[in-house]
Amino acid sequence: MQPERSDGARIETRDLCKVFRGSPRPAVDAVDLAIEAGEFMTLLGPSGSGKTTTLNMIAGFEDVTSGQILLDGTDIAPVAPHRRNLGVVFQSYALFPHMTAADNVAFPLRQRKVGKSEIARRVAEALDLVRLGEHGDRLPSQLSGGQQQRVALARAVVFQPRALLLDEPLGALDKKLRESLQLEISRLHKELGITFVFVTHDQEEALALSDRIAVFRDGRIEQVGTPAELYETPSSHFVATFLGDSNVFVGKARDGVIDTGWCELHATGVAEQAAVALVVRPEHLRIGATTEPGVNVLSATVTDVVYQGAFRRVLVEFDGGVTGQIRDTTSAAPVATGERIQVHWPADAGVIVPSDGVTEPQVATSPVTVP
Ligand SMILES: Nc1ncnc2c1ncn2[C@@H]1O[C@H](COP(=O)(O)OP(=O)(O)O)[C@@H](O)[C@H]1O
Ligand SMILES: [Mg+2]
Repeated sequence: MQPERSDGARIETRDLCKVFRGSPRPAVDAVDLAIEAGEFMTLLGPSGSGKTTTLNMIAGFEDVTSGQILLDGTDIAPVAPHRRNLGVVFQSYALFPHMTAADNVAFPLRQRKVGKSEIARRVAEALDLVRLGEHGDRLPSQLSGGQQQRVALARAVVFQPRALLLDEPLGALDKKLRESLQLEISRLHKELGITFVFVTHDQEEALALSDRIAVFRDGRIEQVGTPAELYETPSSHFVATFLGDSNVFVGKARDGVIDTGWCELHATGVAEQAAVALVVRPEHLRIGATTEPGVNVLSATVTDVVYQGAFRRVLVEFDGGVTGQIRDTTSAAPVATGERIQVHWPADAGVIVPSDGVTEPQVATSPVTVP
């Protein structure tokens, strides 16, 4: 069955701020974000960075301290939450436990005084859309966590909202279920054609689902871009280390090289004298020596080798004491822990970002693998 499509809403925040009573610093601090009609936009950031507060202000569940929220160009400050025509899904499924799945999905339509036969038709369609057509008569307690969240999704889209707001909707599910529901949400977005605003702290999830990602930090947006833009050209140390694994070399830029205090590294686009961080993704590092000009070569000691199926994650300590990692996809004889190796990468494989006040050499090893 073809679901009915409605056009997505364009959502824009202008200088949006939220200061909670008694709190010394803003939870949301001058957020400017333009979400295009039909776009899948993810708000990504660590816990406490202001994602939920931003979403709740868009939904109307939280007052705006200052700034504006525009829906298709119109300020929605005076519009009550239920009149904004936005679907909302939370981490906790928030289903009515005494109602069947079908009655839960019908609820927003009853509130809107939709006729009985129309309700029956649209509930069946929404349950089909989330592949629960056969389970309409079950109570939430008779459904798995994943199925309950699909009922919540059906309930959020049954009244044909022009945008769907999702706050960590997969956070309560285990990894396998989370991955299968990610695919469902992606399919739902394509089939409905409406705007999705999706909150998560999981960078892998954000990279997999989004048209664009807004990276939040301390109530502010640090960078907005497509997954590839954020991964390949992060604008800050924070974004580079929050999204994917990175080798980070902090130093001073001079005479076209970065002086880390223990080695000099070639990089393209080095500005004189700036305190910078050179970010190199693990897949750009190669094991072995080379004499090619413009290629960086460092000596290192292997500290661990982790077999990951398609590749080996080789953890190293460079001679300057900086730790790093290499994504080794070669089938050649693997290196072993304790082995002394050479590591190289071309000058143009790194990205230079402001050092963010970090002066000590350090490396970020986020727990998840690069895509
Ligand atoms: N009702 C509230 N009262 C006071 N402070 C709050 C309230 N809700 C959230 N905060 C604070 O606002 C900041 C942002 O929170 P939140 O938007 O929930 O972050 P996130 O969703 O990114 O984890 C945090 O410092 C949090 O403690
Ligand atoms: Mg939150």
